[in-house]
Amino acid sequence: MKKIIAANWKNNGDKKFIKNYFEYFSKNLNNTNKNEIIFFPPDLYMDQIDKYKKQSNFSLGGQTLNTAGSDSDGSDLVLTSGTSSEMYINNGCSYILIGHSEIRQFSNFLIDGPKMDRRWTERETIILALQGSDSLQVIFCVGENEDDKNAGDTHTILSEQLDDLCYLKVKPKKFIVAYEPVWAIGSGKIPTLEDISFIHRFIKSSILEKLSSLKEKDIMVLYGGSVNLKNAKDILCAPHVDGVLIGGASLKVKEFTSICNLKI
Ligand code: 13P
Repeated sequence: MKKIIAANWKNNGDKKFIKNYFEYFSKNLNNTNKNEIIFFPPDLYMDQIDKYKKQSNFSLGGQTLNTAGSDSDGSDLVLTSGTSSEMYINNGCSYILIGHSEIRQFSNFLIDGPKMDRRWTERETIILALQGSDSLQVIFCVGENEDDKNAGDTHTILSEQLDDLCYLKVKPKKFIVAYEPVWAIGSGKIPTLEDISFIHRFIKSSILEKLSSLKEKDIMVLYGGSVNLKNAKDILCAPHVDGVLIGGASLKVKEFTSICNLKI
């Protein structure tokens, strides 16, 4: 199966950086590459990057949807600073990241009290993504933090987080999950390859258990957290790994291009 190699730029980059980056990337990306390459740039630069899609084969995605939820009649509530799924689609995006740990942390911070819990927000956000005029493919991020891991709660946390993706009124076309242990993001630490495979397998079976009508081929699990050129090939070749979601190393154009050009 085609692997996904995704670059999450977070809040990095500017116009000059983008020009230099894509001049190199377009020239050096191996055209026989069969993998699906996705860039998740900051929203403001979506248009700048969209024009390079003609030269190199990649897709674009948004880093999150900002939502205030929907009204009792189903219409979206207005939100200053919000970006709708239609806007992403209109700007050439076909993917959307939902539930990245950096966003979860932030929404927990914003939303206090039991009225609106974190998981309600994730469900509402996915529904808005899927209700777009031509729906975006959700990449749903899950992952335990260091305390959860040390307490042996990884599986419980992941299963709870996956409920948001599985128990929706609108179903995604395909289930793509990014497993990003919070303790591995930007830390240089990664789980062992055996642990990555084991957890990816757990994620797939947990989704299949919750949604018995689904087939394993409809689920992809990506790994994210301190992926770089040294470890990417081993991670991509590990059983049950269908791709990678890369932060820091995706900003280094030579390193990211080399990862995209790996023969897997
Ligand atoms: P790093 O690759 O910098 O650890 O970031 C991972 C990440 O958060 C991707 O979404």
